[in-house]
Amino acid sequence: MDKKSVNFKKLYYGFPVILISYYDENDVPNITTLSSSFTLTNMICLGIGNNSYALNQIKKVKDFVVNIPDRNLMKEMDICGYLSGNKSRKFELTGLTPVQSSIIKAPMIKECPISIECSLTNVTELEDFKGITTIFAAIKGRCVSTDLLDDEEHLIYSLLNPVLYVGDNANKTYRYTEKYKSDNSGSFI
Ligand SMILES: Cc1cc2nc3c(=O)[nH]c(=O)nc-3n(C[C@H](O)[C@H](O)[C@H](O)COP(=O)(O)O)c2cc1C
Repeated sequence: MDKKSVNFKKLYYGFPVILISYYDENDVPNITTLSSSFTLTNMICLGIGNNSYALNQIKKVKDFVVNIPDRNLMKEMDICGYLSGNKSRKFELTGLTPVQSSIIKAPMIKECPISIECSLTNVTELEDFKGITTIFAAIKGRCVSTDLLDDEEHLIYSLLNPVLYVGDNANKTYRYTEKYKSDNSGSFI
């Protein structure tokens, strides 16, 4: 494969769009859109810009939910990713429905097929990467739409339909996954 060195300032190679929901310190439910996340076992890690209202509230209230939207919620992803909770109540703006989690003090988004209930454990700001905060949280619970579960309560992997965030410094785009396409890892060797 011939490759060329490029001078992109960023290269987002396909991260699922997630909607973070929380109650702020005044108990107002709000939402922000992120794509920078990973999870391993019961830990989840998010990368958030320091000016984010969601970040500064979650540092205080600790509990939040990571919701995984699908293609039915494109406008909602944009609204929650282009307006700040500083000035906007994004549940009201989008018409999304907050549903109180039964195990943490945070609202889940009813319209998202997956909601992961989290509690903040660590906040990291590095000298080398000013302006970005990395937060770590413990996963307290996971709720999955019954449409995505088989009779044995396993995920129907090929029906999970996240939207990916892909881009460089010229543009950032949404990229769509295809339903009914999945293979087990390890099945190619
Ligand atoms: C698809 C998408 C993905 C985004 N991913 C991130 C991200 O990973 N980290 C981040 O800090 N901001 C991200 N943003 C930008 C924030 O959502 C945006 O700054 C938002 O206005 C912050 O809202 P808040 O102040 O209510 O937290 C993303 C925006 C979009 C539309």
